[in-house]
Amino acid sequence: MIVARTRAELAQALASLHRPGRRLGFVPTMGYLHEGHLSLVDAARERADVVAASIFVNPLQFGPSEDLASYPRDAARDLVMLEMRGANLVFLPRVEEMYPEGRPAVTVDPGPLGELLEGAHRPGHFRGVLTVVAKLFGLLRPDVAVFGRKDFQQLVLIERMTRELDLGVEIVGGATVREGDGLAMSSRNSYLSPEERAAAPRLAEGLMDAAARFGEGERGAAALLEPVRAALAGSPLLRLQYVEVVDPRALAPVDPVPPGAVIALAAFCGRTRLIDNVVLEAS
Ligand code: PAJ
Repeated sequence: MIVARTRAELAQALASLHRPGRRLGFVPTMGYLHEGHLSLVDAARERADVVAASIFVNPLQFGPSEDLASYPRDAARDLVMLEMRGANLVFLPRVEEMYPEGRPAVTVDPGPLGELLEGAHRPGHFRGVLTVVAKLFGLLRPDVAVFGRKDFQQLVLIERMTRELDLGVEIVGGATVREGDGLAMSSRNSYLSPEERAAAPRLAEGLMDAAARFGEGERGAAALLEPVRAALAGSPLLRLQYVEVVDPRALAPVDPVPPGAVIALAAFCGRTRLIDNVVLEAS
């Protein structure tokens, strides 16, 4: 596995690995890897001959009061995990390598979908995400890139950017990988105290309850969101920030709720902000 820390090292590695006729698969990450990230490496491997990952905690997508400084980092461990999973190349740039002139003046506007759900609570977040993903696509020129459905709105916006700006990258979504008790894997789970960690699976439990009610025929938005609210209300450590049932493309609330709609939520577990979602399917 080649580790490239600069643009020059990356270009050199790509010249040797990404030969004509070979497909390059790409998995962008912010590191502190877990099985959710690694499942995306597997998905990239299924669709490509050469698999690259990036590890970069992108300052542009963090708000001023968010956790940029404390975001968990362990590059040495991440590299071992990626090598064991069969990645061929890892791009691990420093902030100055990605943004040599500081904050870029030109950024990618996520448009109206970037104002909804997460965007309503994290101003500027998706502008930062789309800008770094566009830069990474420019630097690596992958044929296919894989993103997790755990970050459902992020996946929708990246698909949309790639299509509307004709970036020429196939975008693939990977299923959310969960802990045994249902909690969606996240680098931020490492912030949780034992008590918080014990309360956190309630997010997934509420979503699974809602999905079960949908399977039983419930189509009212309020009735579907009720078990989510109840699951979170059951612990004083949890504070719901938003929960909505939305169309998977327009991200607008739907009521009555059709199959394929998504329930998306954000909640604070202590001081840690967690997100999760479920796709509603008729049984
Ligand atoms: P990060 O949070 O490190 O996530 C990297 C990729 O892993 C994203 O596509 C995310 O959706 C996926 N992922 C995270 N947890 C997952 C889980 N439990 N199951 C499946 N996939 C999961 O998302 C980002 O980084 C950044 O915004 C990035 C796209 C790298 C741009 O900076």
